[in-house]
This record gives sequence, C-alpha cells and structure tokens, in this order.
Amino acid sequence: MGHMAGVTPAVRVRVPAKVNLALCVGAADDTGYHELGTVFQALSLWDEITVEPAPAGVFRVAFRGEGAAFLPTDDTNLAIRAARALAHHSGVKDAGCVMVIRKRIPVAGGMAGGSADAAAVLVGCNQLWGSPAQPSQLRDVATQLGADVPFLLTGGTAIGTGRGDIIEPLETRGTYHWTLALSHTGLSTPAVFREFDRTAEPAAPVVPQALLDALAAGDVPAVGKHLVNDLADAAIRLQPTLGSTLQIGLDAGALGAVVSGSGPTCAFLSDSAESASLVAESLGVFSGVRAVRSAVGPVDGAGTGEKHGSR
Ligand code: C5P
Repeated sequence: MGHMAGVTPAVRVRVPAKVNLALCVGAADDTGYHELGTVFQALSLWDEITVEPAPAGVFRVAFRGEGAAFLPTDDTNLAIRAARALAHHSGVKDAGCVMVIRKRIPVAGGMAGGSADAAAVLVGCNQLWGSPAQPSQLRDVATQLGADVPFLLTGGTAIGTGRGDIIEPLETRGTYHWTLALSHTGLSTPAVFREFDRTAEPAAPVVPQALLDALAAGDVPAVGKHLVNDLADAAIRLQPTLGSTLQIGLDAGALGAVVSGSGPTCAFLSDSAESASLVAESLGVFSGVRAVRSAVGPVDGAGTGEKHGSR
C-alpha cells in the first residue's frame, strides 16, 4: 500500500445514491414495517467519506456540502450508529473514529443518502480496523441499521424483498441515463408510509415481470414504461408540485418518470446523454424544482480505492 508501518492512513470511501425502478408496497407488519418488492439501481451520484482513527470510545462525524447544516451529528446519526455497531459486532477493542462526509446525495430526498453513508462507514471502518468483519457480517450489521443499507453495500441493480433488505443482484444490459429533479423541501419517509397506510389498499408487493424482462434485455424504453412506485400518490398528496414535475419531464421526452423512494426527488429515464440533457433543461426552469442532477446507472456499491480509480 506504500504507507509507513505503524501509521494508519485515513480511509476514503465513496458510496452511490439509489433510485427505485419499482417500489411495490404491501401491508405493514406489527412493527410498522411494510413488505416490499423493489428494484434498486445505484447511480453515479456519490457521497464521499473519510474515516480516520480516534482514541477509544471517540466517535465523531462532520458533514460538508449541500444540506450538511440540517444533519444531526450526535449519537443518533446513522453514521455514528454504523461505526459503533460494527465495532460491537466484530469485537473491535478500543474502537474510535472521526468521519467526514461530503454530501452530494440530496438530504431527505428519497435517494437513501443516510443509508448510503452508513454503508460507507461500514466499509471504511472495517478497513481502518484491519478487516475484522467478513462480507456476510457486514451485511448483517447493514440490515440492522436500515432497510436500504444492504443494497448500498452491493450496488449495481438488484431486487429487494422483505423490508427491501433481502438483496438479489440482477443482470442487466445497457446504460441508464437519469435526470434527477430535487425539491425545495424534503419528505419524511415514515410520514409518506403513514399517508400510504391511510389511503391505499395494499396488495401483494410483486415487481412487474415486464420490468425485469426489459432490464435483462437492456430495452430502456420498456424499462421507462414499467417504472412503478406505490408510494407516489402518497408523496404527491403531501407535495402536490411533484405531479407537475413528473409531467414536465415526460413532456420533455423522458422515457419514464418516477418518484424516487418516498420522494420528493423525481427520477427521469433517458437512453442517451443528449436526451437526458433536454429533460434536465426543461426541469431546470420549473420553479417547483430546486436543482437538477444528471447521473448514470448502474454503478458499484460502497467501495474504497482501486475499483473506483485513483482519487
Ligand atoms: O429502515 P429505515 O430506517 O430506512 O426506514 C425508515 C422508515 O421507512 C421506517 O421507520 C418505516 O416508517 C418506513 N419503512 C417501512 N417499510 C419498509 C422500509 C421502511 O414502513 N420496508
């Protein structure tokens, strides 16, 4: 590795955002969690995390970038919970770390930013502490931290069942060009699920076979046609502007439009960078949209170093 013996260097990890190509929601169990059938894709919109050693019992996190000021940095933060959970689970003695997280994934946006950071912390701390946890142990800790965390370790495109935490990678073809319309205000995931419970008649959460076939074939227009999100109506009721946002992107030529996760970020699919930039232009001048991002998928999950090239 080239660093001096005895000096533990900082570990850098980057972790992608996710979009749900399908989010099929079933009934809630006694804990309030819903059974899901979902298809995740990891996108080229990354948070970057640096993890450095700290004295025993010291766990600190700081955020940089857009929306950083809104995030709690006390022990309730998922990044700190992730570091402590890994230390506990894999029996690391005298564990501690200082984490700096550079945000690009929109905060409270339905793109799993908090879960992504937790996945990155697991990878980063595991390396910092000399790999005490095997991949399967990392997955177990990830599952305890939140339903989206296991997917952010895996990345790519995957089907998620259970609470969305049982992950099975999908072989897909093609490159998917996404335009993301960020909203002026966030949405709380539990609030969106509550609105869903109040108004929807949940059925068995089965991902449409037509979507899976289209992904396997790399048929981007067919993927666009079969994007689905059972939480969309609930999110739109809580933020009615999202209805206009979705229509504007479709009118600009997007092959499909979907609310990402519990929203409010809306995701638009195109089959080329050129078509995607037309969609971005139209959304960029709509007052209901705070900012527009472009990304491609699928990309790898949380990782350090070589695989992602030198940084
Ligand atoms: O697991 P995570 O902390 O990311 O979930 C955030 C919230 O989303 C939960 O508190 C719950 O209200 C809702 N949720 C759900 N069913 C799922 C996943 C999440 O109701 N399968």
